[in-house]
Amino acid sequence: MIPIVPATDRTPTAFLEAYPSFASTRALDELRAAEYPALDRQGHTYLDFTAASLYATSQLDRHMALLRTTVFGNPHSTNPTSSTATEYVARARRAVLRFFNAPADEWAVIFTANASHALKLIGESYPFGAGDRFLLTFDNHNSVNGIREFARSAGATSTYVPVVLPDMRVDERDLMRELEDVRPGHHHLFSYPAQSNFSGVQHPLAWAAAARAKGWHVLLDAAAFTATSRLDLARCGADFVVQSFYKLFGYPTGVGCLLARKTALETLRRPWFSGGTITVASVQGDKYYLAEGESAFEDGTLDFLSLPAVEIGLQHIESIGIDVIHERVRCLTGWLLHELLALRQVNGAPLVRLYGPPNTDRRGGIVTFNFYGRDGRAIDHRLVEQRANAATMSLRTGCFCNPGGGEIALGLTGTELSSCFRQPEHQTHMTVDDFKLCIDGKSTGAVRVSLGLVSNEADVGRFIAFARGFIGQ
Ligand SMILES: Cc1ncc(COP(=O)(O)O)c(C=O)c1O
Repeated sequence: MIPIVPATDRTPTAFLEAYPSFASTRALDELRAAEYPALDRQGHTYLDFTAASLYATSQLDRHMALLRTTVFGNPHSTNPTSSTATEYVARARRAVLRFFNAPADEWAVIFTANASHALKLIGESYPFGAGDRFLLTFDNHNSVNGIREFARSAGATSTYVPVVLPDMRVDERDLMRELEDVRPGHHHLFSYPAQSNFSGVQHPLAWAAAARAKGWHVLLDAAAFTATSRLDLARCGADFVVQSFYKLFGYPTGVGCLLARKTALETLRRPWFSGGTITVASVQGDKYYLAEGESAFEDGTLDFLSLPAVEIGLQHIESIGIDVIHERVRCLTGWLLHELLALRQVNGAPLVRLYGPPNTDRRGGIVTFNFYGRDGRAIDHRLVEQRANAATMSLRTGCFCNPGGGEIALGLTGTELSSCFRQPEHQTHMTVDDFKLCIDGKSTGAVRVSLGLVSNEADVGRFIAFARGFIGQ
């Protein structure tokens, strides 16, 4: 439950009284000053941690020192520089397994370019066939939605389970009904995000074990979850888990991973082979043999110079403690929600309409909403973004690559969307303005504020002051 803070009293003292445990995260204020100096020196209000976390200067220093003092060759050979690179890749794999408490005999770490690449590996390799099922929540990133195209072309059926306003959670009866529909002899893949990148809802991790017990493979999108919440794979029933490391610790970009249960990995069928994924391939014999385990999924040369920075980044988070980060973000999110929901437009109506839970129960540090004007209509999210930009404030607007979340939040129905997409002029092309016209002037997007490891009270305070600027508009 959210502690009661009088809406009129917006001093940090009131915040600290409402969230006394915030004091236990004070080390992060010192860390922000010492290790993230550009943030305050350049006057940024950074409220876009779900899009990308920020990196500490010590991460860069350690990585650069390693590159300066070590000779790395392309892995996959026995020569000395190659062996060094191979050892650092292996270290990064071990660090990932350790961080997520994934037993090494049960889980494989496949390094990818990002979470989307990891999801595509599943989409193209899952043995979808006629009569198979792909089940997913409305609330999913487009890189999960895109898997339905692999399912479609193989003749499998895709089914979406809705999320329900105002909290944007799934009605578990709907989900369980779908999970019960298991067809003997067929493949079943269920995918959902551990945390919504739209509403911040944390969908139950317990679904994974429940679905698996009924015969489903479970693909958990952890991309928006792991930066501020602990994921313990020894206790999680998922088969496949995807992430992008820049979302956890800012640097490096261009590296993500697919964590896969080894038993589930065996069911995947790669549609091609490439350098690095085979033991033997022959031109004249027209034959190839895939390598075992993760090697079969890592096409070509890994980003071997960046991988040591993954180990460094994970150590950075471990040195702070993921539970400390979680607590800090929980406190700030609770305060942000309370202050934002207390604001009133001049007509007496709430200034914002929130899409997601109004308190800190089973949610992360993502707060998504629209401002409403004195005329009772939503204020265009693009205007909000322009004003935020002018205030050196980084937030995000639109639907965040999560159209299912957006459609539910903004009340767009399947019927109106289909009739819009069927219009001849919209067969192949549509701008945001076309779309807005097509759906009769309804909002096409929302405003998202997301908090992370070095967010502080001042960031939230500046955002609330910015929000007050819409009163009377
Ligand atoms: C929940 C979720 N899944 C997947 C992705 C895709 O991540 P990437 O763009 O790094 O591939 C994102 C990115 O925002 C996300 O928030």
